[in-house]
Amino acid sequence: MGNIRFIEHDGTEHTAEIEEGKSLMQAALDNAVPGIDADCGGSCACGTCHVIVDRRWLDKTGAISSIEEQMLDLTPEKEETSRLACQITLSEAMDGMVVRLPEFQM
Ligand code: FES
Repeated sequence: MGNIRFIEHDGTEHTAEIEEGKSLMQAALDNAVPGIDADCGGSCACGTCHVIVDRRWLDKTGAISSIEEQMLDLTPEKEETSRLACQITLSEAMDGMVVRLPEFQM
């Protein structure tokens, strides 16, 4: 199936197996990856599932919606490749993808 690598702000790394169709947020929660709060449960309404996608994988994560963009604009640690993990649907094409976690979720 393949794996996703999550890297915490301090460099600690976690791996989650890709389950096709599951959200990146859910994969993080199912694998006890710290730093994904997901307060709204995946409704693109809280911004607490912020991740920074490695640039090499960004085109595999799909289009960003205007609502997601607006939520990310409220995130202090927003970077050019920031995404909300609940808005990324996993596929095998993401095997090996690396995402970094911000220091704080707001
Ligand atoms: S879980 Fe709330 S925006 Fe992603």
